[in-house]
Amino acid sequence: MQNVIVIDHPVVQTKLAELRDFTADHRKFRALLNEIASLMVYEVTRDWPTTDKPIQTPLERMVGKVLARRVTLVPILRAGLGMADGVLRLLPDARLGHLGVYRDEKTLEPVSYYQKLPPDIAQTEVVLIDPMLATGGSGSAAVTLLKKAGATNLRFVCLVAAPEGIQALHAQHPEVPIYCAAIDRQLNEKGYIVPGLGDAGDRLYGTK
Ligand code: PRP
Ligand code: URA
Repeated sequence: MQNVIVIDHPVVQTKLAELRDFTADHRKFRALLNEIASLMVYEVTRDWPTTDKPIQTPLERMVGKVLARRVTLVPILRAGLGMADGVLRLLPDARLGHLGVYRDEKTLEPVSYYQKLPPDIAQTEVVLIDPMLATGGSGSAAVTLLKKAGATNLRFVCLVAAPEGIQALHAQHPEVPIYCAAIDRQLNEKGYIVPGLGDAGDRLYGTK
């Protein structure tokens, strides 16, 4: 699949297997989700541009490299928030935007209910995070909102993607790279990813 990067690192896969296990309670789920998000940052940021920065070490002057652009991290509420601390551990200077999008349980259509983004988002690297890409409705709607706000350097990071979701997101936004830890088999009749990990928001917050 074009513009889809599956992070199949053995440590990521081990933690993902633990996360999928239905016996993982919300405390364990929360910890694992953040740990996986941290690990994924290395791959997601691999090709970001850097600029030279003169620095003085205790011994001599040299030219170091630093990220060229500021970073905006945008979790899709609710479940995306469960990845935010993990990403911020490695990118502590990132600003946080928030997008509230949920999918209607009957129609599976995305419903957007909240948006707060940094004003200079256009000049930043934007990382959109949500553990699940199922029908792709929420992800596509979120990317559309970010583009309207001016975002250009944009990537989508999830844990588990369905082939249907990848296709739907790329049908609308083919240039947006999708990073995931796994591409699962399919969606079931209720729009859940199978084998998947269930309802990410409910497992994360203990709401079911
Ligand atoms: C989940 C998930 C995604 C969306 C994926 O959120 O976190 O945002 O579903 O499904 P889709 O690709 O079919 O749109 P949910 O709608 O359950 O909202 P919540 O996180 O607020 O519970
Ligand atoms: N949202 C989830 O949280 N899980 C799925 O499997 C599909 C959508």
